Amino acid sequence: MKVDLTGALNSMLQKTIKEYRAADECGDTRSARTKALECAGLLEQIAQSSPGQREIYMKRAQEWRAIAGQVEAKGSSKVVESAGTGENEFLTYAESLIATTPVRWGDIGGLENVKRLMMETIVIAGLNKPDSIKPWKGILLFGPPGTGKTLLAAAAAGSLNATFFDVKADRVLSKYFGESSKMVSGLYAAARVHSPSIVFVDEFDALSQSRGGDTSEATRKLLSTLLTELDGLQDKKSGQLLLTLAATNTPWDLDPAVLSRFPRRIYVTLPDPEACCEILKIHTKDLDCSSLDLGALGARCVENLYSGRDIQNLCQQAIWHMIREENTNLHHLAELPFDELKERSLKVRGLRAADFEDAFEKIRSPITRSDLERYDEWMEKFGE
Ligand SMILES: Nc1ncnc2c1ncn2[C@@H]1O[C@H](COP(=O)(O)OP(=O)(O)OP(=O)(O)O)[C@@H](O)[C@H]1O
Ligand SMILES: [Mg+2]
Repeated sequence: MKVDLTGALNSMLQKTIKEYRAADECGDTRSARTKALECAGLLEQIAQSSPGQREIYMKRAQEWRAIAGQVEAKGSSKVVESAGTGENEFLTYAESLIATTPVRWGDIGGLENVKRLMMETIVIAGLNKPDSIKPWKGILLFGPPGTGKTLLAAAAAGSLNATFFDVKADRVLSKYFGESSKMVSGLYAAARVHSPSIVFVDEFDALSQSRGGDTSEATRKLLSTLLTELDGLQDKKSGQLLLTLAATNTPWDLDPAVLSRFPRRIYVTLPDPEACCEILKIHTKDLDCSSLDLGALGARCVENLYSGRDIQNLCQQAIWHMIREENTNLHHLAELPFDELKERSLKVRGLRAADFEDAFEKIRSPITRSDLERYDEWMEKFGE
């Protein structure tokens, strides 16, 4: 039987880090060095039992070995800032924001230009190049809800095998109220350690929209640290990929200081007819759609101002309609024990136009034409 020891090892690691800090603080160089080496050893063990994140843990282990080396060389305390007092808590929290994403470029229908631009940005960051050529540090994705902004960020990280930090601004603020700017520094320290990294700040407007008005002190601090980190990134070690992607539905709420850090602003639009077809295909992937006129369905999606999310919902409704029609007494089976249910199969057939008729009735886009005009206007003034 395989036993998962990672949890136990992690608690030992936390304990050892604390002991290291205590030794470091009272200048006990010898113990600090021993504890740093123990941390490295534990991280190596964790790496062995976490195949998906092996490299990340090995990198951290190396860092701890370096810390041990520095303690020995200098014989003094506070050698490495990030391992010193308090900072580790933020580093550890930042590491808890690392998400693995199965999303790939192929899961996104349409948005060809956007995908290409993001791929180029990432490739440029990685390639050897003259010093004067700097990759973009920040990309702003804006557009109506449900158009694929989060999906794009996830695909960028997933396809690149980059470490993906999934940050919801509000959540960080509420967890580390008052210390959120330290949190942001911790986040970028972790992102540098785990490079190539993509820091994805979703619902970015929540942070900066109130900047001019009655902003809370905590929000202001968080934002200004974030901006400082974005400014500083290039100067630190080059050859690292550390890309900050920010997403918003309301770009007009961002103030100039924020905007200036995101020179690349990409409009993630509602899908055109062709993209609608692709999205329809993605969300009906393993069902027979040969009797459907996808072109006509796509055109209707455009007419209805559907986003990718609306199309996904549309497909789900259509599939549900088909299931109901094929399995009339489905609810009767609820009385059967679960094990018995597993023996039976749901009846399915190919999707038909009639399944979608019903679905089109039910799905209403939350977007209006005047909303779209507002995006277009902003795009013209401030966009790419
Ligand atoms: N271009 C697309 N191709 C395939 N699926 C899409 C596409 N756009 C959206 N979807 C579907 O809609 C869901 C929502 O998309 P996503 O979360 O990326 O939108 P968003 O732009 O981040 O929205 P919000 O602004 O509300 O955060 C996705 O999980 C996906 O299933
Ligand atoms: Mg989103």
